[in-house]
Amino acid sequence: MSGGSASGWSDRFEQGLHPAIERFNASIGFDLELLQEDLDGSIAHARMLGQCGVLAPGEADQLIAGLERIRAEAAAGDFNPGLEAEDVHFAVERRLIDLLGPLGKKLHTGRSRNDQVGTDLRLWLRRHLDQIDAALLRFERALLAQAERHADTLCPGYTHLQRAQPLCLAHHLLAYIEMAERDRSRLADLRHRVNICPLGAAALAGTPVPIDRRQTAAELGFEAIYANSLDAVSDRDFTVEFMAAASLVMVHLSRLSEEVILWASEEFAFVSLTDRCATGSSLMPQKKNPDVPELVRGKSGRVFGHLMGLLTMIKGLPLAYNKDFQEDKEALFDGVRTCLDSLEAMAILLEEGLEFRPERLEQAVANDFSNATDVADYLVARGVPFREAYQLVGGLVKGCLADGMLLRDLPLERWQQLHPAFEADIYAAITPRQVVAARRSEGGTGFAQVAQQLERVQRRLRIASESSADIPD
Ligand code: ARG
Repeated sequence: MSGGSASGWSDRFEQGLHPAIERFNASIGFDLELLQEDLDGSIAHARMLGQCGVLAPGEADQLIAGLERIRAEAAAGDFNPGLEAEDVHFAVERRLIDLLGPLGKKLHTGRSRNDQVGTDLRLWLRRHLDQIDAALLRFERALLAQAERHADTLCPGYTHLQRAQPLCLAHHLLAYIEMAERDRSRLADLRHRVNICPLGAAALAGTPVPIDRRQTAAELGFEAIYANSLDAVSDRDFTVEFMAAASLVMVHLSRLSEEVILWASEEFAFVSLTDRCATGSSLMPQKKNPDVPELVRGKSGRVFGHLMGLLTMIKGLPLAYNKDFQEDKEALFDGVRTCLDSLEAMAILLEEGLEFRPERLEQAVANDFSNATDVADYLVARGVPFREAYQLVGGLVKGCLADGMLLRDLPLERWQQLHPAFEADIYAAITPRQVVAARRSEGGTGFAQVAQQLERVQRRLRIASESSADIPD
């Protein structure tokens, strides 16, 4: 026999795998990530076999003790299966046979690696969904803390990245909390579809062994079992759903990143970066670079890539299991890691990596034409049709630009030449602070509206932190 061993396979096999194919085929290099879930699933399976009378009394207990011993070995760094194990499932089973002899060979009764790997993967993702939820909450809290600090700070609001109307800075930050809340609700929704148990579907058709699928599902905390064994072993929809939801998390983080990068530039200078999250240049001594948001913006691409990769991997697969599915793991692991790391980094950036510069922000809104809409609204409030007021103010802005003036610099006569409805209170009406305060419509940037939004978010986050006290890691 040359190359790898044939020992994992039935006696049908005589020759070992070509060493390069053994390497090519193996997933042990990355699927040891599933070890805890594989042990949990196997323990539940063994217990069920005992209770259903498939195993003699005491046999299940010995299998469970053996599996726990493997867990302890792994914790001590003593479980290091090599390529010949092929994957985590075989690695555990082989070690169990080493430990228990012939009894170890009974664990795989009524089960296949196909339903096993699906079970492991769902348990793994479920645990990590809870971690991502906690990371989203921390990110929201960091945004909220900045928003609370700046409930009174003005900033320019943009459309087309052109100055549009002044805003309350807290309002701008609260918009990102809304996005993060949608992310949380999307992930909570898909968690129900992740939390369905394929175990007991066996290779594809079910099993003649008198198993109890509902018992293993309940022990593992699943909400339901798959109704169809073929679907059970060939469904990877949940990986796609997750990657789509994670892609949106990354889109939101990336948009905020882009803003921070702009704000930190000398052109905007709306934030300064602290030394906690910024890096220097190896060449230019004056540089302070926003590496954290740049990396987050860059990393978003890998998550979108995984989404495409998964869709493409699945789309042509006939029922039921195909080895192509092995490709789901690195995508899923990396997508989860990227999402968690990016959320953490952005939370830290908000917590201690940047400081807003209120003086710069206020200076920006005080010296532009972003109060022009409010001049039109002033006339509207005095009976002038909006479109007519809009045209009048457009002409006024044009004149100001030609004269190098701002609206607030115009003498009262000029206002009154334009329209007799203008009175001396126009000056107060177009200060940036008044412009913001006037936007009292529900969900608008007016300070009173923003205060209500802040309260709602504070309440929501208080409730969330009470109900998510311990997240497994
Ligand atoms: N390592 C495999 C995977 O990741 C486990 C399932 C293998 N099943 C099989 N019939 N070859 O999908």
